[in-house]
Amino acid sequence: MTPDLLEDGAQRLGKARSAQAGGMTASGGRAAGFSRLAQAGEVDVTHGRILYLEDVSVSFDGFKAINKLSLDIAPGELRCIIGPNGAGKTTMMDIITGKTRPDEGTVFFGSTINLLRYTEPEIAQLGIGRKFQKPTVFEHLSVFENLELALKTDKRVRPSVFFNMDSAQADRLLHVLHTIHLTDSVRRLAGTLSHGQKQWLEIGMLLMQDPKLLLLDEPVAGMTDEETERTAELFLSLKGQHSLLVVEHDMSFIKAISDIVTVLCDGSVLAQGTLDQVQADERVIEVYLGR
Ligand SMILES: Nc1ncnc2c1ncn2[C@@H]1O[C@H](COP(=O)(O)OP(=O)(O)O)[C@@H](O)[C@H]1O
Ligand SMILES: [Mg+2]
Repeated sequence: MTPDLLEDGAQRLGKARSAQAGGMTASGGRAAGFSRLAQAGEVDVTHGRILYLEDVSVSFDGFKAINKLSLDIAPGELRCIIGPNGAGKTTMMDIITGKTRPDEGTVFFGSTINLLRYTEPEIAQLGIGRKFQKPTVFEHLSVFENLELALKTDKRVRPSVFFNMDSAQADRLLHVLHTIHLTDSVRRLAGTLSHGQKQWLEIGMLLMQDPKLLLLDEPVAGMTDEETERTAELFLSLKGQHSLLVVEHDMSFIKAISDIVTVLCDGSVLAQGTLDQVQADERVIEVYLGR
């Protein structure tokens, strides 16, 4: 899909919204769709894409870390990204989440939200959650308090003292606890959890915000085989309700969870297909073995 088509879609959506509101506004239909922060539930996926990157490039001191990268992700899809070190996988996530601004290219969330117009915290609010490699749970708080804290925007205030969840939030917390297999550990201090459990707790903290799209960078690094298997089950249970973009080196994990695998190399897509297809691709074999 071309950016023109995206613009067209955005205009149609904007017009439809203005029509609902009783006619065109002075600022025009398109502005209505672009001028405010859309709510997470409003992501327009009628074109079959939750995330869309086209010809994105970024250089650091003249080195092209991302080079004409194009990628699109369907709603509910679990997409795996593999590629050698330095391929640009983390930088790609930095661009999607607004941490790094590309020099050129298009980055859309759904077909109407131009992510390049939003700041990093706004992008999180729009419904894009990101898990970094290292778990960043609050070790001196309980599992429960960590999840409760994830609901709040002002994280400086100790949760249980000033914050009361509504019943929908409490239901969500119970559901998330079950999803991340920590129901039995709800009162434990996060600092006493295993490495794998801390990773799950952090994923749970993201899930408390009900993100539309989850970006996970090397989620099973450092996990035991059993923890890795449980994480695969967890991700499979999340797909459909959320879209997931998973960067991982562990091929047995990729094999367990993947539909489509995208191979990144030198900042752009080298190959894409099932894991078997990309592993049989000569160019992929060369970048993994031939250097
Ligand atoms: N902020 C930055 N400043 C300079 N170089 C960077 C920066 N971020 C990433 N790079 C470089 O961009 C390339 C891609 O890095 P990265 O996205 O971390 O790769 P990957 O996650 O695939 O291993 C690397 O060569 C890295 O050194
Ligand atoms: Mg990386």
